[in-house]
Amino acid sequence: MTASALIVAAGRGERLGSDRPKAFAVLAGRPMLEWALDALRDSPQIGEIVVALPEGYDAPDGCIGVRGGAERSHSVRAALAASTGDPILVQDAARPMLTPEIVASCLAAVAQDGVDAAIAAAPVTDTIKEAAGGDVVRTLDRSVLWAVQTPQVFRRAALEAALSQPDEVLAAATDDASLVEAAGGTVRVVPTPASNLKVTTPHDLEIAELLLRSSTR
Ligand code: C5P
Repeated sequence: MTASALIVAAGRGERLGSDRPKAFAVLAGRPMLEWALDALRDSPQIGEIVVALPEGYDAPDGCIGVRGGAERSHSVRAALAASTGDPILVQDAARPMLTPEIVASCLAAVAQDGVDAAIAAAPVTDTIKEAAGGDVVRTLDRSVLWAVQTPQVFRRAALEAALSQPDEVLAAATDDASLVEAAGGTVRVVPTPASNLKVTTPHDLEIAELLLRSSTR
């Protein structure tokens, strides 16, 4: 079956301090959203692209546009409802370093037997500690920790079931895979470079700009 890609681009991105929604902030001469779109348009497995947009923004060429929701998961749910494919690839517009190779690895992983979702992730390089009230409670075992990114690819039925939960459950989820995990689904990590970064702050925007200008894209 043909895959659908959902790009969530409806966030305000206040920490970036831009005069427009983050997905439309200018990155290396183009709206940020266009970089992830390039990689999806260059991926032959992707049959349609649905973009969750802020109010007042039109769908990019060749894409289906839907209005985003109050929280990220609500935007994913709105885009899923407008899509027809299986599996479903979910991508943050705020991750401009997506490549067709990353798309292909995640799609291949979700096609394996018994896998409900496959998520791009990089091994953690910092030591991670849990703290409460400013004091360390414990140090986590770094060897088993992954920093999770997008794309996250799902069998359609698994994502539909995960997103059919009440609004408040969705609002608390920082990624879609956690909703599938909570339902007992099998989520596989797909090792991806840490350079597949998310743009949150002006510093991230500078790093992404340097990486994009020095790449062959
Ligand atoms: O704010 P953050 O960087 O975590 O958002 C991740 C992605 O989710 C961004 O691409 C943003 O546009 C999108 N988003 C959305 N709808 C929301 C909130 C965030 O589409 N309500």
